[in-house]
Amino acid sequence: MEGNAKTITVGLFGLGTVGTGVVKVLEKRSGLIRNRLGYDVRLKTICVRNLDRAREVNTAKYKVTTNSEHILNDPEINVVVEAMGGIEPARSYIKEALEKGKHVVTANKALISKHGQELFELAAKNGVNLAFEASVCSSIPIIKGIRESFVANSISSISGIVNGTTNFILTKMTSEGRSYESALEEAQQKGFAEADPSFDVGGKDAAQKIAILAMLAFNTAVDPDTVYTEGIQDVTAEDIRFAGNWGYVIKLIALAKKADGNGEGIDMRVHPMLIAKKHPLASVEGELNAVYLNGDLVDGQMFYGKGAGQLPTASAVISDVIDVMKSVAVVRNFNSLPLIDINDLEFSYYLKIPVIDRPGVLYRIAKILATNGISVAELLQPGGKESVPLIIKTHRAKERMMRHAFNELNKLAVVKKGAVMIRIQD
Ligand SMILES: NC(=O)c1ccc[n+]([C@@H]2O[C@H](COP(=O)([O-])OP(=O)(O)OC[C@H]3O[C@@H](n4cnc5c(N)ncnc54)[C@H](OP(=O)(O)O)[C@@H]3O)[C@@H](O)[C@H]2O)c1
Repeated sequence: MEGNAKTITVGLFGLGTVGTGVVKVLEKRSGLIRNRLGYDVRLKTICVRNLDRAREVNTAKYKVTTNSEHILNDPEINVVVEAMGGIEPARSYIKEALEKGKHVVTANKALISKHGQELFELAAKNGVNLAFEASVCSSIPIIKGIRESFVANSISSISGIVNGTTNFILTKMTSEGRSYESALEEAQQKGFAEADPSFDVGGKDAAQKIAILAMLAFNTAVDPDTVYTEGIQDVTAEDIRFAGNWGYVIKLIALAKKADGNGEGIDMRVHPMLIAKKHPLASVEGELNAVYLNGDLVDGQMFYGKGAGQLPTASAVISDVIDVMKSVAVVRNFNSLPLIDINDLEFSYYLKIPVIDRPGVLYRIAKILATNGISVAELLQPGGKESVPLIIKTHRAKERMMRHAFNELNKLAVVKKGAVMIRIQD
C-alpha cells in the first residue's frame, strides 16, 4: 500500500479546539489511514488569527500563517479544512476554495445551516465536494447516515437530543433533583457549557443542527432563525419529578417531520418535551447526543454518542477529509418547503398551575380548558400548603387553543406566577 498511496495535502483554517484535534489525530493516525485506505494525508499549512498565541501542539513542521491566501492560493493544497467558526470570513474562504477547485471540509453549523444551499451549489458547479459531518453532533455519523446509508429511504421524521449542554443539565436535574442554576454551574465547571450559555440553553444551537438535518433529509433550505425554538431555562426539578411520576422524562428535543397526510410542509421545532421513559431517546444521558430517525425502508434507527469535544470532532473531520477525495452525495434540487405553524399542530400537554388552595379553583380551571376544547387526561394535586401546584395532563388539543386557554388561566386571581406548559411527545 505504502508505494501507491495517494496524497491529500491539507490546509487548515483555525487551531482552536477542533483544529488542534485535527493536528493531533493526523499526527497519530496517518499510518493507520494509509494502511486502511491508501491515502497519505499531509497537513501543510495552518491559518490562525493570532500568531503569538501559545498552542497545545507543536507546529514547527507546518507553515503557520495569518494570511488566508497561503492556503487558498497554494495549488498543492487539495483539501481545505475550515475549523474557525462564525459566518465571515469562513464563508468567503470556503467559496474561494471551492472556486479554486479545492474540496472543503467544515465543522461550522452556523454557516452550513444558514448558507448551505449556496455552498453546495458552488461545490457542484466547480466539480468539488463539501463535507460537514462534524457540524451536527460531531462524531456521530448522522450526516453520512442520512445521505449515504439511508439514501434509498424516504425519511418521515428526525428527532434528536443534539445539544450536550442542555442534556447534561436536564440529566443532573433528573438524577440528583438539582435546580437548573446549580446544574448549569456544574456544566460550566466541567466545560460542557460556555460562560455565556444562552446559545445552547436557549435552543439556538439545536435549531441550527436540525435545520442541517432537515436540509439533507427533505432537500429543503430552512433558515434556522425561523425554526420555532424554546430553551430549557424554565424547566424545574419539580416538573421533572411530576413528569417522572407519569412515566416521562423531560428532554430538549429538536424535531423535523414531514407534514402528515397529503399536506406539504415541515413541522420543525426545538423545545423541551415530555418523552416516555421507554422511548430510546429517554435513556440518552449527560452530555451525550442521539438522533432518532424514521425511514420507510429501515423504520426507526437511533444514532448515539459524543456530540462535541476535541477528539470526537476531529474524528469526524478526518473522515470527511478522506470522503471528499472520493465522492460525497450532495443536496441537489432544493425545495423550499413551508414550515408548519406550531399553532396548527396538536399535542397533549403537561400543565403545572400554581394555585391558591381555595374551594372552586379546580372548577374554574377545568371550565377554561373545556371552553377551549381541551379535556383533562390526568390530574394530580399534591396538597398541603396554601399555594399548591395543580398538575394536569391533557388529551390532544390544538396548540392555538392551548395557548389561548393558558393565557386565560394565567389571568385568574387564584393562579399564581410560574405556570408551566410543556408538550408531550406522541
Ligand atoms: N468545539 C467543539 O466541540 C465543536 C464540535 C463540533 C463543531 N464545532 C465547530 O467547529 C468550529 C470551530 O470550533 P472551535 O471550538 O475549535 O473554536 P475555537 O476553539 O474558538 O477556535 C477557533 C480557531 O479559529 C481561528 N480563527 C478565528 N477567526 C479567524 C480568522 N479570521 N482567520 C484565521 N483563523 C481564525 C482562531 O485563531 P486563534 O487561535 O489565533 O485565535 C482559533 O484557532 C465552529 O464552527 C464550531 O461550531 C466545534
